[in-house]
Parts: sequence; structure tokens; C-alpha cells
Amino acid sequence: MSESRGERSGPFRAGDRVQLTGPKGRMHTITLEPGKLFHSHKGPIAHDDLIGLPDGSVVANQVGIEYLALRPLLSDFVMSMPRGAAIVYPKDAAQILAQADIFPGATVVEAGVGSGALSLWLLRGIGPSGRLLSFERREEFAEVARGNVATFHGYDPENWSITLGDLAVALPEVAAAASVDRVVLDMLAPWECIDVVSDALKPGGVLLCYIATATQLSRVAEAIRATGEYTEPQSTETMVRGWHVQGLAVRPDHRMIAHTGFLLTARRLAPDTVLPELKRRPSKTEFSDEDVEAWTPGALGERAVSAKALRKRVRAADAAAERSRAADGAHGDLTPELPEAPAADTDPAGEAL
Ligand SMILES: C[S@@+](CC[C@H](N)C(=O)[O-])C[C@H]1O[C@@H](n2cnc3c(N)ncnc32)[C@H](O)[C@@H]1O
Repeated sequence: MSESRGERSGPFRAGDRVQLTGPKGRMHTITLEPGKLFHSHKGPIAHDDLIGLPDGSVVANQVGIEYLALRPLLSDFVMSMPRGAAIVYPKDAAQILAQADIFPGATVVEAGVGSGALSLWLLRGIGPSGRLLSFERREEFAEVARGNVATFHGYDPENWSITLGDLAVALPEVAAAASVDRVVLDMLAPWECIDVVSDALKPGGVLLCYIATATQLSRVAEAIRATGEYTEPQSTETMVRGWHVQGLAVRPDHRMIAHTGFLLTARRLAPDTVLPELKRRPSKTEFSDEDVEAWTPGALGERAVSAKALRKRVRAADAAAERSRAADGAHGDLTPELPEAPAADTDPAGEAL
């Protein structure tokens, strides 16, 4: 596998993505190309002035205004890449890698792919010796994800596949029974996929569900319990609050990303194992048919992205990926297609499906 463009180090080289931060904190992402100029309304910067400088340098434009130049981190990239569906935010991705125990060399199943944000984190976690089997039932979302992953790396990773279709149908066709180390589900109705996941997971393997609402959380927890095939589900929510630390003014930030989703994890038991504390297979006792109706995706009030907006994002992701794949020879500027990172108080649910 060739070198990932998103994970380079050392002095800036042609083909690198570089994030320029101007005097008012405004950011622009460019791809370095010898002889090219980056134009902003504050004046041009020659790419040649950046090539050869160490990462983290300050460069002045042609009228003396200074910009900080850094290679974007993966978290910068995912927050600014084109989105088809809502992404997993970095604060949750970090917890997913830890709680699902994603390790180098692991075989991981992921569904759905959405915009590919979590795919990028999972690919980083499993490394080149691991395998990521992703599933997505909407072709346009898969296309956005493919574009984003190719843009980040500069190539299509060989150890990553996207299977189009419903995980509940497609997983048994792709993964042999008891062949998967970890399964990560980010979808509206993960409870519909628990049976196929149970077949695919190795004994001791980890199932992690990322879930947006409390009603979905309770439904998937009950569905997992009802199989009797997992350890007791563990649920968490991750809140990351920034702090303003300047001189004696040391306090929490006024704004933060509040709710994104819950994480639920459970481990696959060996076949025919019954948990010692249960001594029985749990049954459905705690909820009625009316409750089940409240748990259905239709009752959850998810907003749909318009077909037109989605087509535009597919085109943006395709175009950025094309330039990134081509960038080892001739390099393109990503600036016009990559929107600015959303403000810290952007409601992630606002990007929803
Ligand atoms: C919120 S998005 C995933 C976002 C993604 N984790 C990311 O970080 O970019 C949920 C995706 O799951 C897909 N999906 C929902 N149910 C599915 C199923 N049963 N099989 C495959 N994909 C599914 C949807 O089409 C949607 O693209």
C-alpha cells in the first residue's frame, strides 16, 4: 500500500494538503503544487514559499499578511469534508476506537458508511494489516464516503470494501460465520441487524452501536439482551467541554457540542453460553407494542437530506477524490470544494439523514 497523503510528516512537499489559518482564524485548505498561487482577498501566497518549510511554519503572503501553515489532522479533515449523512464526530470516534477495542490487524464490520468519517478512523485503527468491511444501503452515500476516503489517503485503500445493501441481508454473503473481530453499527435501526451480527462475530468479539436517541438506545439494548448471546450491554455518552485558559481567566468554554449520540457495547458469548448471573435467556417483559411503535424510525423525526443537496455533495466528494488520486503527479487545489469546518455550536443532528 502506498504512503497515505493524510498521514505524511516532515517538511511540506508537493501534493500535501495544508491548512492555512489567517489573522482572524479563518481557515483555507490547499494542496501544494509547484508554481501555483493561493489567492484570498487578502492577497496571494505562492505554494513554492511553503514547499520545504517544516509543518507548523508561518508564511507571509505577497502583501505581508501572515498565515500559520499546518497539515490538517484527521479530525480537521472529517469536520470539513463533504457530507451525505451526519458524521460521527471526533469525540465519539475516539471513544468508539477505545470501547470497541479496535486494534491493528482486526477484521471490522461497519454499517452504515454514511459520509465515511468513521471509516477513516477505523482504517487508521486497524492499520494496513487489518480489514474493514463496510456496508451501506444508499449508493449516493457510499459514493460520498469513497470520495472522502480517497481524498484523505490519495488512493482507495486495498483493505477496505463497501458492500451496497442492507447489512441484515448482505453481511452473511460477505463475512463467514465467527470471522469478525469487531462490529460497529451507526444506523437508525440496529436491532434489525443483531442476528446477522451475532453469526458473524467471533466469540469474545465486540459489538458497538452508536445511537442518536434514548428510545433507540433502549430498543437496541433490549434486542441484544433478548438474544442471550451477549454480555450485559454497557451504555455511555461522551461530553467534551473545552476550557478557556488564559492568564487568570480559566473557565469552561461558553459553548460546546452537547448531544451527538450514545455508545452501547456488548461482547459476543461463546455458542450456548448462558451468563452465570442470568441462568435463563432473558425475555421481552419490560415494554408494550405501543412502546415498540415509539421506537420505530418514523417516530424518531429524522430529517431527510434533499436529493438535489445530496447530488451536489456526491459531485463535491468525487471531484475532491479525483484531484487527490491525481495529486502524486499534478496537484489540484481543494479550497473551493471543501467548506469551512462547522462552528463549534453546530447541531450535528441538523445534518441528519
Ligand atoms: C448516520 S449515517 C453513518 C455516518 C457514518 N458513520 C460517518 O461517520 O460518516 C447512517 C447510515 O446508515 C445507512 N444505513 C441505515 N440502515 C442500514 C442498514 N440496515 N444497512 C446498511 N446501511 C444502513 C444509512 O443509509 C446512512 O448512510
